Amino acid sequence: MTEPKKLYIKTYGCQMNVYDSERMAEAMGGAGYVETGSPDDADMILLNTCHIREKAAEKVYSELGRFREFKEAKPDLKIGVAGCVAQAEGQEIMRRQPLVDLVVGPQSYHRLPQMEQQVREGKKALDTDFPLDDKFDTLRTRAKAKRGPTAFLTVQEGCDKFCAFCVVPYTRGAEVSRPATRILEEARELVDRGVREITLLGQNVNAYHGAGPEGDMTLAQLIWELDKIDGLSRIRFTTSHPNDMADDLIEAHGTCAKLMPYLHLPVQSGSDRILKRMNRSHTAESYLRLIERIRAVRPDIVMSGDFIVGFPEETEADFQATMDLIEEVKYGYAYSFKYSTRPGTPAAERPQVDEDAKSDRLQRLQALITRQQREVQDAMVGRKVSVLFEKPGRLDGQMVGKSEYLHAVHVVDSSLKAGDLVAVEVVESASNSLAGRILPD
Ligand code: 5AD
Ligand code: SF4
Repeated sequence: MTEPKKLYIKTYGCQMNVYDSERMAEAMGGAGYVETGSPDDADMILLNTCHIREKAAEKVYSELGRFREFKEAKPDLKIGVAGCVAQAEGQEIMRRQPLVDLVVGPQSYHRLPQMEQQVREGKKALDTDFPLDDKFDTLRTRAKAKRGPTAFLTVQEGCDKFCAFCVVPYTRGAEVSRPATRILEEARELVDRGVREITLLGQNVNAYHGAGPEGDMTLAQLIWELDKIDGLSRIRFTTSHPNDMADDLIEAHGTCAKLMPYLHLPVQSGSDRILKRMNRSHTAESYLRLIERIRAVRPDIVMSGDFIVGFPEETEADFQATMDLIEEVKYGYAYSFKYSTRPGTPAAERPQVDEDAKSDRLQRLQALITRQQREVQDAMVGRKVSVLFEKPGRLDGQMVGKSEYLHAVHVVDSSLKAGDLVAVEVVESASNSLAGRILPD
């Protein structure tokens, strides 16, 4: 028997890339590859890349440089670039980095085995098409191995919103929803393999409108179908656009027990002037009223958001409006970024804010967010939460899991194992996690 070849995948960026990397590993499994955790013994290295901000994209080139010595030591080693940088800059990568053998865009990775064949024959392979054949169709069966208690499941890809700063509509293409039957099939299979929590993924997940048995389904309808799966205990979804928070989805937050009380709902800015320039099609006020409606049906929901500071023409007053909005919402989590110019997007051509102002605003915003996050987390002390345990902690007999609100919770109890879903009383709040004790049944 021949030794299986080894594949090392390094994943950057969002959760969808994590999911895609798993699927790429499965596709390559069919071509005789097993995954390895280190590039040292790999026969193929794949970088699954992110193009959302300049820094993320630049990392790819420095990482590729680092792999030169691996290739010198092992001339047979094949190096591939996948994901959104591959999509956006495929030709340029091939030109700038001769050690790259293969470039595959996020819509073409089901063709990896054929591409691997090609590079083994000493050719270069590039595929950044948006093919008509569905990559999920070809990759229908996921490997049957047992897996951890949580999983991602992509239900929707691409985006038609065209926010003025964002490359996603160009790298991931137009909004496409997977058929509900396929998603449910995949979810059942995940549950059979030990998964108890599924996070539905999409760049614009709440715009989901996949084909169901009786016409297109909304995300809420899909969630209610998932709710029927025995053994599946928790459902989450990310990332949402405020304009696609349909009534049935809001309602599900109040009525679907498996839908977790956590919502990532990016607003980007609190200034209407900037929101308009960003092409967001909502206002700060409409966003706040939306959260009010969600909190009316689910008062304990923990809110999360994304913010961009220093968008072209953002003034100090615009920035203050963002700070005011944050004060009003009280976020449990938030991700904040300095505006990064992305070639080909409309905002790239506009008057830019200087770098020092951006850094200063980011620092102030992050200080506010850090304080809020801590307040939301501290308020959990004394409360009963449910924790889905995932892995051992650092201490002896300690297990770590996530509460319904997505806080990490540590418990010392040697009877716990991964996959247990247990009621816990929160006793302490530390900088990045909570400590709890098991409540008697
Ligand atoms: N510059 C900075 N942040 C960006 N994001 C998207 N594009 C840019 C950009 N050009 C942020 C947004 C989005 C998150 C995924 O990344 O906040 O919600
Ligand atoms: Fe990008 Fe999200 Fe806007 Fe779509 S909705 S363009 S993915 S920021």
